[in-house]
Amino acid sequence: MPGRNFLFIPGPTTVPRRIQNAMNHEQEDMRAMDLPGFTKPLYEDMKKVFKTENGRVFIFPASGTGGWESAVSNTLNAGDKVLMSSFGHFSHLWVDLCQRWGLEVQCFEEEWGDGVPVEKYAQVLAADKNHEIKAVFATQNETATGVASDIAGVRKALDACDHPAMLFVDGVSSVGSIDFRMDEWGVDICVSGSQKGFMLPTGLGIVCASEKALACREGSTLPKTFFDWNDQIKTNDLGYFPYTPPMNLLRGLRESLNMIFEEGLDNVFARHNRMANAVRAAVSAWGMRPIANDENWYSDTVTAVKVPEGFDGNEVVRHAYNYYNLALSISLTKIAGKAFRIGHLGDMNELMVLTPINGAEMTMKDLGYPIELGSGVAAAQEYLRSTAKPRIQ
Ligand SMILES: Cc1ncc(COP(=O)(O)O)c(C=O)c1O
Repeated sequence: MPGRNFLFIPGPTTVPRRIQNAMNHEQEDMRAMDLPGFTKPLYEDMKKVFKTENGRVFIFPASGTGGWESAVSNTLNAGDKVLMSSFGHFSHLWVDLCQRWGLEVQCFEEEWGDGVPVEKYAQVLAADKNHEIKAVFATQNETATGVASDIAGVRKALDACDHPAMLFVDGVSSVGSIDFRMDEWGVDICVSGSQKGFMLPTGLGIVCASEKALACREGSTLPKTFFDWNDQIKTNDLGYFPYTPPMNLLRGLRESLNMIFEEGLDNVFARHNRMANAVRAAVSAWGMRPIANDENWYSDTVTAVKVPEGFDGNEVVRHAYNYYNLALSISLTKIAGKAFRIGHLGDMNELMVLTPINGAEMTMKDLGYPIELGSGVAAAQEYLRSTAKPRIQ
């Protein structure tokens, strides 16, 4: 089949040529004497992405789920009370993981389309006078619904009542694309993965831990081997790993960081916001809206487009793939069929982001949606033109 597949799911995302080239590296000795010259700066630079001075980054040959598991198993114990909220497929899965680890989970079940219920968290924390809650969990970007939550707000809720609970953040689909501030927001653990904002293939489970979270290792009794932070720390400090590292992915990660720093983190966030605004302009021109219930919750990395009654959003995804070689993303579980998702994160620019809008529009027209052909593309074009800046000064 001529031409290429266009991948616009919210991860894995398109891997830019520079990163592909960097990963196309000879297999190498992971115990070579000069390897620390590569690994030590890599770990230091990862801290800049999380915006932390004293935090520590762990990189596992895993995915985001492995990052969750490592976070929980190194810091908490069975029976520990934790405060969580579920408002989408991924926040739900994190709750499920914590329950399977035997934590005592207090979970707010929120409407899908809403985000972390900061006010409710504040009330529960204020009422927890004996400080029984050990950790508060927040999914910064719920990829299933395209909802971004207020992590600084959760920190404020903790501080307002001087609550010592740790703050755990899922940043799998936000870190490196949406602003995240480990130190400023007093986050104790942030989990991410390679296949979204880092523009790499899947295969790295990334965790950033604060000094407070690191200190919890002492009393930690949950079983772990592969994800044991102690083994990582012992070897990482020397520039090595406790087991065979995925060197090609790490070479790719080096290039990913080079690209992010060349552009500047804040510019990366601003670009994601612009791409997201273009998609939202298209959605509104179609007479539709995102699943996110409030614009404060709009995600800059993924938009779940709510389809009109009587239509099946997942049919849009199948049709776009089949007829136009375009990969959009299905809607999952509770909202299955009620939306389709457009991923607009990672290696993305103006003309790229017009592609899923264009393809979704053609698809919806084919499927009898009451939309005008070209309307979404035109709205996005207008927005992008009106906010365009020269690339070369
Ligand atoms: C917000 C969020 N958390 C966690 C995960 C799980 O990560 P993984 O599929 O890499 O294990 C995902 C995956 O898409 C996600 O979007």
